[in-house]
Amino acid sequence: MATQKTVALITGANKGIGFEIARQLGAKGITVVLGARDEAKGVKAAEALRAEGVDAHAVKLDVSNDADVAALPGWFTERFGRLDVLVNNAGIAEWASDDVGAFRKTLEANLFGVVAVTYALLPLLRESPAGRVVNHSSVLGSLTSITSAPGQFGDFVNPAYTTSKAALNGFTVALAHKLRGTRVKVNAAHPGWVKTDLGGDAAPLTVDVGAQTAVALATLGEDGPSGGFFHLGKPLPW
Ligand SMILES: NC(=O)c1ccc[n+]([C@@H]2O[C@H](COP(=O)([O-])OP(=O)(O)OC[C@H]3O[C@@H](n4cnc5c(N)ncnc54)[C@H](OP(=O)(O)O)[C@@H]3O)[C@@H](O)[C@H]2O)c1
Repeated sequence: MATQKTVALITGANKGIGFEIARQLGAKGITVVLGARDEAKGVKAAEALRAEGVDAHAVKLDVSNDADVAALPGWFTERFGRLDVLVNNAGIAEWASDDVGAFRKTLEANLFGVVAVTYALLPLLRESPAGRVVNHSSVLGSLTSITSAPGQFGDFVNPAYTTSKAALNGFTVALAHKLRGTRVKVNAAHPGWVKTDLGGDAAPLTVDVGAQTAVALATLGEDGPSGGFFHLGKPLPW
């Protein structure tokens, strides 16, 4: 028997913005599953949320590990009989290098990992009364923003990272198109420049604000958009 509660998977949720997304979705009464490539870190993070009253669980998930990804649909079916929300948050940035190795590593996590996890879970999401996919992108993947405001992003315009997030935006648009006419909505989120291990200490935003765009897109109503790119309620250009 499927649980009556909405169930969400957040990838890369053992720390940073992903952990905060789990906390905020959990505070809305959603059952949250924290994906973490280090199982112990995921269990610890879920325990911390349970101590706050959140119905939190952990699943071992390296988005680049075929076995981890293949096990996901059975894991959700066995425990909850459903999956409603997928937040593809896990991501990396190789700021220091942009050789082909950095491209391979970055696209493996930021694009192929997202594609693999999403396709594995799409059958469950399609069964949901309100399936939602949120791809954690970045304004650094917005080619229009980068080219219309030269200099604004400085050294953060890293070829491998920008290419990975622009490609993720492409996946977002194409998947939303493919799923038009279904109950599944697919959108991309820019969290802002957020103080995390990835964003660095100079970032102006806290994770509390950084999580808000993804949380809003994960809980969109039936009349909400699909195939868009947003930051704090405002559309971003591609
Ligand atoms: N912070 C910003 O300013 C900013 C701006 C724009 C977009 N974003 C995006 O927001 C997302 C979250 O970033 P963040 O700032 O919270 O970064 P973070 O603190 O470095 O957290 C990244 C998370 O992703 C996980 N991860 C990385 N590769 C993974 C893999 N192959 N499989 C599973 N998990 C993996 C990490 O796990 P480990 O702990 O095991 O490393 C960690 O849990 C990323 O997609 C990032 O590109 C961030």
